[in-house]
Amino acid sequence: MNKDEQLRNKAYDEIEKQKKLVDQDPYRLHYHIMPPVGLLNDPNGFIQWNGTYHLYYQWMPFKTGHGAKFWGHYSSTDLVNWKHEEIALTPSEWYEKNGCYSGSAIEHDGEMYVYYTGNVKDENGDRKTYQCLAVSSDGLQFEKKGPVVELPSQYTAHFRDPKVWKQDGQYFMVVGAQTTELKGAVALLRSNNLVDWTHIGILTGGGTGKLADFGYMFECPDLFYLSGLDALIFSPQGLEADGMKYQNVYQAGYVVGTFDVKAGTYEHGEFVELDRGFDFYAPQTTEDESGRRLLFAWMSVPDQDEQDHPTIEHQWLHNMTIPRELQLVEGKIFQLPVQEMENLRVGAAIEHEVEMENESVQLKGVSGKAVELILEDIAVSDGCFDLSIGGAARIAYSKEQKIFTLERQSYVDGVVEKRQCQLDTLSSLHLFIDTSSLEIFINGGEETFTARFYPAPDNETIRFQASKKSNFKIKKWELAKVF
Ligand code: FRU
Repeated sequence: MNKDEQLRNKAYDEIEKQKKLVDQDPYRLHYHIMPPVGLLNDPNGFIQWNGTYHLYYQWMPFKTGHGAKFWGHYSSTDLVNWKHEEIALTPSEWYEKNGCYSGSAIEHDGEMYVYYTGNVKDENGDRKTYQCLAVSSDGLQFEKKGPVVELPSQYTAHFRDPKVWKQDGQYFMVVGAQTTELKGAVALLRSNNLVDWTHIGILTGGGTGKLADFGYMFECPDLFYLSGLDALIFSPQGLEADGMKYQNVYQAGYVVGTFDVKAGTYEHGEFVELDRGFDFYAPQTTEDESGRRLLFAWMSVPDQDEQDHPTIEHQWLHNMTIPRELQLVEGKIFQLPVQEMENLRVGAAIEHEVEMENESVQLKGVSGKAVELILEDIAVSDGCFDLSIGGAARIAYSKEQKIFTLERQSYVDGVVEKRQCQLDTLSSLHLFIDTSSLEIFINGGEETFTARFYPAPDNETIRFQASKKSNFKIKKWELAKVF
């Protein structure tokens, strides 16, 4: 048996061995992508290919910690029902022995090409990085071609997460990087044949331009066209908290601007955080066959109290967000749940028109573990309007202060912690609750808040409270269990 087969078998054995314990967890999610066992992190190789969506993911099958990552694989024809496929990549070769790290997929001549980072720690513990290619004719089994990119001299070995796209008959690759001066940067490479790659230079960051001094490492870059502009998503590390901004250990956000294909240069605006909640990192997008720009993100942040999640007792950790569609509205990226999420609705909506003042209410039928809520025509007076979920998370809006707040009971010590953003008006809220996961889409996706939270498993209450007169219409659906 070769190394690849050994690793696969070991991972499949681990799934079998832990299945019962994993399945018994009341915090297992109903409709979010999770690892069958072990730790999941970044979405990788997201693509729709011959009608099928493929989502690969960073996976450590053997423990609820990081390490020599595999590429796990889910596939779907409708973005909501997912099948766990056989393992795509195992860290079996010398150039990836400490992990098949993050990367992307592209279709070429009827085959799927995936680019990923081979992570290696040598005998002295020093890091080496190899940008590797693997090719597949079915998206299931991959033939590894090995490293295809030399590490350019201006970067340290923190050079990873290749994202590849085709534009004007050429191929481009962005790679997350750290310069030898220890500045975060995005590297740009070009190829005519997907095999020979030339480094063009630093696309942004690295000590010059708008992001000259913006942390010490950029992870998971993704450059794409959206409604007339070029957006660059990336996950910078090393930003200081700044008021309500940059509150998590690391951030995920974007700039928008114009990519000059010929010159290989990029003019762009200010960095904006994509999500304002506690748990959102390493997002990756793809354009699907209908032309939508879709995004998945890892619903956690590296080094952010990962070992304190209650799910580790049940031998699994972390999940993806729901799939989201991106739209550019006046230069700002809006995120919306994909329309296919409606296919998860079970039965008819429960609807209420609510007017409340100085009271706290539960609405008939509005409760549950795995539910979708839409609040529309929200009109709140001064004072506070809030709703609490399972007694463990609270959403509040203050009209006077124009501040939106998400609070949760910390899973580390139970103390209430919060994330906030400035919000001029609150007109609608779209919520996806899934046992221990919460995604909030505000005003049609203008802002989102994403978080894990851990209500007592039998607490399914949703309570609304308003100090001054407030009105809204609400719809609630139960959502199907697909995992
Ligand atoms: C982001 C990241 C990537 C890396 C991967 C390893 O979460 O650190 O930069 O490729 O995770 O699992």
